[in-house]
Amino acid sequence: MEAAADRGTVCVTGAGGFLASWLVKLLLSTGRYAIRGTVRDPCVGKNAHITALEGAGERLRLVKADMLDYSSVASAVDGSQGVFHVASPVPSGKSSNPEADVIAPAVTGTLNVLKACYEAKVKRVVVVSSVSALFNDPNWPKGKALNEDSWSDEESFRKNEEWYFLSKTMAEREAFAYAAKTGLDVITVCPALVIGPLMQPTVNTSVKVFLSYIKGDQETVQNEPKNLVDVRDVADALLLVYENPQASGRYLCNSTAIRVSDIVNILKTSYPSYTYPQNFVEVEGRYTYNTEKLRSSEARLGLQTYGGNHPGQLRMLPSFGHPELSSIQLWLLLLGGSFFPLHVNSKTE
Ligand SMILES: NC(=O)c1ccc[n+]([C@@H]2O[C@H](COP(=O)([O-])OP(=O)(O)OC[C@H]3O[C@@H](n4cnc5c(N)ncnc54)[C@H](OP(=O)(O)O)[C@@H]3O)[C@@H](O)[C@H]2O)c1
Repeated sequence: MEAAADRGTVCVTGAGGFLASWLVKLLLSTGRYAIRGTVRDPCVGKNAHITALEGAGERLRLVKADMLDYSSVASAVDGSQGVFHVASPVPSGKSSNPEADVIAPAVTGTLNVLKACYEAKVKRVVVVSSVSALFNDPNWPKGKALNEDSWSDEESFRKNEEWYFLSKTMAEREAFAYAAKTGLDVITVCPALVIGPLMQPTVNTSVKVFLSYIKGDQETVQNEPKNLVDVRDVADALLLVYENPQASGRYLCNSTAIRVSDIVNILKTSYPSYTYPQNFVEVEGRYTYNTEKLRSSEARLGLQTYGGNHPGQLRMLPSFGHPELSSIQLWLLLLGGSFFPLHVNSKTE
């Protein structure tokens, strides 16, 4: 049952996933929203991590919906003031049918959500895109930090069979084209590689990338700067842009880059018994990002007006109360403990 909440009902698509679970937790913690979460598999075990959250009994309702099935999406969205469209395939291996497995759920799925929102007179839709929709712009000036004006080249992704990157780029472009055509208020957030504690029972793709450093998978790794962002910061960013009346367009969401060797050294200090890469091949970072738009939006709104999960600065800002450590380093040190031992040997989905 959806209890009354002063800001009405919001729908979160793919509510049981890695990022969406943290968003659901954040939305519940504000006490301001009733939440309708879409899931493909409503089985209790798979979603227990969100149905057990504080406030979920009163303010979270799970509904079954596949993004490719318009009528299920339309009934999930109906009656919502706002929608967070998070669901999209994040494959961890090569697909034999990428058009059906990756591109269609991302692109047609997004268009189904937007059409349902338009029909239901939803006030604002926040779509989770990715830095992959902006980091591959052949016309971008060399050396200039990427920002929201940059758009990835779809043809080169297609040629190189980078299906996930292509799916996110196409979906975000289509989202803005739909917004321009209909006047629907659509905002996108483009996160870098998202890491952080897992709420869901399975290991998602981005965290798998990270875990490969401690599982002995690779003896030699490229020592490139990794653009990572904490999952809780992405959830904060999604709510921030949703609640900020001035928000519009795209928002790049990234943290301070950290070299793979630095990640490994931090992990080794806390977890010496894992098998780490032995050799590092030095590689220049390919991209730098300018996240000024999101940061200034956060400053304008003031932190106390949203979230409230973690006082202080957003984790993607470099200090988080410890000026000598980047937020990611802090996360690794403080929160890695509850996460790595639990999941390093767990079965992946
Ligand atoms: N993780 C990252 O590094 C990263 C970076 C940038 C952007 N993003 C974006 O963030 C979003 C969440 O990703 P995540 O990392 O949280 O991955 P995740 O845990 O794998 O979540 C993906 C979610 O999408 C759902 N989904 C996939 N296809 C669907 C379909 N046809 N219909 C309904 N639901 C569908 C999945 O549902 P099931 O559980 O039923 O499969 C799952 O809930 C995605 O849009 C992703 O592109 C992620």
